[in-house]
Amino acid sequence: MKFATRAIHAGQEPDAATGAIMTPIYQTSTYVQESPGKHKGYAYARGKNPTRVALEKCLASLENAKHGLCFSSGMGATDAIIKLLRPGDEVIATDDLYGGSYRMFTKVFAHYGIVFHFVDMHDLSGLKKTINSKTKMLWVETPTNPMMKIIDITACAEMAKQHQLMLVVDNTFASPYLQNPLDLGANIVMHSVTKYIGGHSDLVMGATCTNDDALQEQLAFIANSCGAVPGPMDSFLVLRGVKTLHLRMERHCLNGRAVASFLKSHPKVEKVHWPGFPDHPGHALAKKQMRDFGGMISFTLKGNSMEEAFAMASRTKVFSLAESLGGVESLIGHPASMTHASIPPEIRNKAGVTDSLLRLSTGIEDAEDLIEDLRQAIG
Ligand SMILES: Cc1ncc(COP(=O)(O)O)c(C=O)c1O
Repeated sequence: MKFATRAIHAGQEPDAATGAIMTPIYQTSTYVQESPGKHKGYAYARGKNPTRVALEKCLASLENAKHGLCFSSGMGATDAIIKLLRPGDEVIATDDLYGGSYRMFTKVFAHYGIVFHFVDMHDLSGLKKTINSKTKMLWVETPTNPMMKIIDITACAEMAKQHQLMLVVDNTFASPYLQNPLDLGANIVMHSVTKYIGGHSDLVMGATCTNDDALQEQLAFIANSCGAVPGPMDSFLVLRGVKTLHLRMERHCLNGRAVASFLKSHPKVEKVHWPGFPDHPGHALAKKQMRDFGGMISFTLKGNSMEEAFAMASRTKVFSLAESLGGVESLIGHPASMTHASIPPEIRNKAGVTDSLLRLSTGIEDAEDLIEDLRQAIG
């Protein structure tokens, strides 16, 4: 079945007891057993919950994956993936990645003897040079956050295969509607479900998807052992939100194009990063591995002044100044002081995340209102 049909139906059957068309919120911590070990497939809700299982099946279907697994947050999913590794193992990650992932890698897992390298994967020669006998995992975000660089997933997958590495793709920015990394050779797809998949800025959740039975078994073991699992109410909300993912993404892409084009033509705007522009360095690749270009945009104003960037972000009325992305409402953020504050300034600057850079998550409001809001805020 096609994406839109799967977004609405995958993993969901009418409730066996009542015929309810919506998956019930199984608000329970445990399940009654007939005799020890004899039960209906559910023993304790940290391990499995029917509302969560329906969502996991739906997300797996959207990523063309055999298995899905939900976590209490995107970081909970990342934490479980890194726990697949052992002390001494090395990870090579994109240099321009979500600040929280950078913080977890360098401030938590580095203390457990896992070594992280951050390289610009736009040009794969840096990646090639960094691979050594201890490398076990490639961690890729594409489009990158917040510079909107496009990384070649197929080329990374080939390199991973050649060196027997696990390729993990954080697919949060694209969502499964725009990009399916497992089809391009990735081993695990990770999502902050909080963003486009949930879509309504009303919960925090993460997910992994894989085609590999052994990886799924290990991830499920870690999820149950370490406990970063989401509750049934949030699982229900995501099941509800994901039913419109295709419609929302279509509008995010249209609004992204309208807003990016407006910014590009504005005399006070210095540079706009959006992969839909034919002169974006990753445009051809984005066209190849994505179905459209999305609603995430970053830009700088002329003069490169942090004060001016702060002032503009405080003047918007339709765009709310807030962390996060992917919701129906438009958000504006200042990565250097918000989402990427945990990355040291010298590393941030090297990746292009300057103090004057602003990031937009264009929502699904009327594009004309979004443009008018930015026009008045730029002044
Ligand atoms: C690309 C990306 N990955 C991971 C995360 C972390 O997800 P969560 O906030 O759901 O823990 C975020 C959050 O902003 C993100 O933008």
